Amino acid sequence: MQKEDNLKEIISHAKEYGFVFPSSEIYDGLSATYDYGQLGAELKNNIKTYWWKSMVQMHDNIVGIDSAIFMHPTTWKASGHVDAFNDPLIDNKDSKKRYRADVLIEDHIEKIRQKIDKEVEKGLKRFGEAFNEEEFRATNPNVLRNATKITEIEDRMRETLEKEDLEGVYNLIVDLEIACPLSGSKNWTEVRQFNLMFSTELGSVSGESAKIYLRPETAQGIFVNFLNVQKTGRMKVPFGIAQIGKAFRNEIVARQFIFRMREFEQMEMQFFVRPGEELKWYEYWKDVRINWHKKLNLGEQNYRFHDHIKLAHYANAASDIEFDFPMGFKELEGIHSRTDFDLKQHEEFSGKKLQYFDPEINENYVPFVIETSIGLDRMFLAVLSSSYKTEQLENDSERVVLSIPHALAPYKAAIMPLTKKDGLPEKAREIMDVLKYDFNCQYDEKDSPGKRYRRQDAIGTPFCIMVDHQTMEDDTVTIRDRDTMEQDRVAIADLHRIIDSKVSMTSLLK
Ligand code: GAP
Repeated sequence: MQKEDNLKEIISHAKEYGFVFPSSEIYDGLSATYDYGQLGAELKNNIKTYWWKSMVQMHDNIVGIDSAIFMHPTTWKASGHVDAFNDPLIDNKDSKKRYRADVLIEDHIEKIRQKIDKEVEKGLKRFGEAFNEEEFRATNPNVLRNATKITEIEDRMRETLEKEDLEGVYNLIVDLEIACPLSGSKNWTEVRQFNLMFSTELGSVSGESAKIYLRPETAQGIFVNFLNVQKTGRMKVPFGIAQIGKAFRNEIVARQFIFRMREFEQMEMQFFVRPGEELKWYEYWKDVRINWHKKLNLGEQNYRFHDHIKLAHYANAASDIEFDFPMGFKELEGIHSRTDFDLKQHEEFSGKKLQYFDPEINENYVPFVIETSIGLDRMFLAVLSSSYKTEQLENDSERVVLSIPHALAPYKAAIMPLTKKDGLPEKAREIMDVLKYDFNCQYDEKDSPGKRYRRQDAIGTPFCIMVDHQTMEDDTVTIRDRDTMEQDRVAIADLHRIIDSKVSMTSLLK
């Protein structure tokens, strides 16, 4: 299946089963804004819990906070967001559509890349098993010509963007003869910088003085509370402050489902360290974070690090954990060594000292910071897309199964009476009344057992517990495993232990 088709299928599956709905759909939706439905909210909460427990509960030197979305406007002056949190945008004069100039160029590059892939496919067809892809890519003249084109475009794009040479970006779009994907027109405006922060006005006062912003990252709420937490929590460097919360960015091109949204959620942690020790901790957090991902068993091949070559002015090392989404490898999480930039900026703009007295070396300093920052919605998409599978069964039928890691699954078990009579529903309810205190369970008595199993497979429920006539005689039930589809007969008294051993987060955290 084509990767894009795969994304379309996942989007429609997510809607059909109550994971993700387009926001305000009855009014035809709002672009790039989504609502999490009844199952989506459960999955999202479980991802949050996994992150929070592993960062906060498992580290006695990390604490969590929940800061406000609105912050004093000077915060965003100090952080650099007012002046530099920009994307280059361009409008097409005919279609009136607005684009991110760098995205237009990247899409053009992607088309050249697809030409290379087609050439490779042709080679594979021609040479069959004897085909050596590496050698073909290194020698085929068409592939080489297109690869050189890509490098030249990328170099020019990087150079112009780095220098903020907006005319240069415009010239590149014109030289590449890039047309508006909607109208096919090449009638472009100049390229302008567009600030990504949403602003609004505080109270009833209007005008520049009352302008405040919806936070574009949760990190600044941590920085401004650095001393509050350090003092009240008696924290000793190295220590971390974690936070989960909404962030808002007026993305020009918001697309690819919940991958790039205008309202999204971040899970961020700032780790404050002694100056000079930051690169050691940067490596440490890269390691911890990739292991956090790999514990979920979504497939080792789905992850790779992308180390930044060009660093932001405040960073001295940065790397992304990229995930193989249905659209290809893209950023899932960032790990950044942010030096003392943010705290120093807040010292300067607030006039308040944000320093730590280190009793071990008898020195005052502004700590350096390692940040780990992951988008909750992107993590949700990573789990959903890698769990979504269509399986061919022995009897020629098909099933769609979400093999969501057990600990993250919205429901842990479905309790089903075989029929709606003979006291079976009452018995099933009794079992549910015991299990529901520790596990999110669903009661399901409608349709044939086969249909009910398919329904639970499609929403990723790890266990289906069937109450049948034998249950009434010996207090046993069958328990069906989502992944193997095998059924075992077990005592009701053992159910809690069996489910707990598979769905508990403890094994992920160890
Ligand atoms: N405090 C650092 C920071 O915000 P970032 O790379 O801009 O860094 C961190 O964002 C993470 O937030 C990204 O790795 C991504 O997972 C998520 N993210 C950023 N923009 C997003 C958007 N428009 N929609 C969904 N997630 C987004």
